[in-house]
Amino acid sequence: MKLSCCLYPGSFDPVTLGHMDIIRRAARIFDVVYVGVLCNPDKKGCFPIEKRVDMLKKACYDIPEVQVLSYNGLLARLTEEKEIPVVVRGVRGVSDLESESAMARINHHLNPNMDTFFLPASSGKEEISGSMVRQLAAFGADLSNFVPCEVLPDILAAFSKQ
Ligand code: COA
Repeated sequence: MKLSCCLYPGSFDPVTLGHMDIIRRAARIFDVVYVGVLCNPDKKGCFPIEKRVDMLKKACYDIPEVQVLSYNGLLARLTEEKEIPVVVRGVRGVSDLESESAMARINHHLNPNMDTFFLPASSGKEEISGSMVRQLAAFGADLSNFVPCEVLPDILAAFSKQ
């Protein structure tokens, strides 16, 4: 039996194989996995939001449980509006756990009807991050071990223009 639905939020700037690891595992647990591109106001952002959504849709084409969306507001408000009881977040290590726990507490305070589930990053996915991918792309490195193959052309195209 699967649980009803969850939200996996993030900046996804761009989607990486670390994110895909969490999305695929969440899809085995939940009937519907909303993958939400949300804004972290502390980050400048590299890819436009619509491009991040587009790349996520391409990367998740074979996961029927996934619905990709974007939202320009508080995560807690989105879970309230869509009546989503669970937020899934990936943790790569102790420092992720500390910051994620703080975020989970604030979100639960804002919407007591939701809670956060943590999934540990799979082995080999702990070192991947959006900034690492962006830096490798800027220097023309091979990204095939870090991002889904479906979005490689989009990333290469974006960085070839810079
Ligand atoms: N594997 C590999 N990398 C991962 C990962 C995983 N499982 N999970 C996250 N990462 C990386 C990301 O690529 C990203 O790397 P980067 O910073 O180098 O680009 C980094 O870890 C942070 O990931 P992300 O999940 O995008 O978190 P975030 O802190 O940027 O954003 C939001 C989190 C968007 C969910 C949060 O800012 C938010 O909720 N915003 C809405 C406003 C709001 O409600 N704010 C109050 C929150 S308390």
